[in-house]
Amino acid sequence: MRIDVLTIFPDYLAPLELSLVGKARTAGLVDLRVHDLRDWTDDRHRTVDDTPFGGGAGMVMRPDVWGRALDEVLTPEALLLLPTPSGDVFTQATAHSWAEEAHLVVACGRYEGIDARVAEHYRGAGVRVAEYSIGDYVLNGGEVAALVVVEAVARLLPGVVGNPASLVEESHGEAGLLEYPVYTKPPAWRELAVPEVLLSGHHARIERWRRDQALRRTARRRPDMIDALGPAALDARDREV
Ligand code: ADE
Repeated sequence: MRIDVLTIFPDYLAPLELSLVGKARTAGLVDLRVHDLRDWTDDRHRTVDDTPFGGGAGMVMRPDVWGRALDEVLTPEALLLLPTPSGDVFTQATAHSWAEEAHLVVACGRYEGIDARVAEHYRGAGVRVAEYSIGDYVLNGGEVAALVVVEAVARLLPGVVGNPASLVEESHGEAGLLEYPVYTKPPAWRELAVPEVLLSGHHARIERWRRDQALRRTARRRPDMIDALGPAALDARDREV
């Protein structure tokens, strides 16, 4: 997969050289390119923004600069991603869908956002455009939202996570539940013991215990996720929990 990120703060994306995503890049599993939007400015001050028409606080990013940059970076198969707090909420399902793409282009806005004609123009030109939010809070720009998407998507690409089984049971996975609590050695720590059942070696009981924990945790923290489960998702034993 190819991913291009356009930003006025390329250094913000430096963490993508580390850890799993960094290794995936080195292994050639992700072709990730970070670009400085100012490379497409045409004035001495490398201006990317201006005052909003209609008045109001803050600055808006100019469509001409974005247009030059995107004309160069977009390919016919690209999905153009625009992080914005007013976009559709990005979820694990979105991550799975975007992991199927050949080319993602993330255009990071700053200030009050990017002139609305940029999304309109590229949609009109037949480019698929997704405006997305990573949650109901406001960041200073799209860079952190780009980091979130690159990490969430890259780890779903074949070969990136060493043991694909670890993708199966995690929170927001197929079961539609939050993950159960996990424990490791030592078995006793600061007066706290690991739940007996996990030391029992009894696989069926362990599986049942984990499912109970996942159900309880989800019901307490995310009742909306329980409501969203289909009628067939819970068996009679689940309903007792
Ligand atoms: N830019 C600013 N806030 C954002 C958010 N919550 N999600 C995506 N992009 C943003």
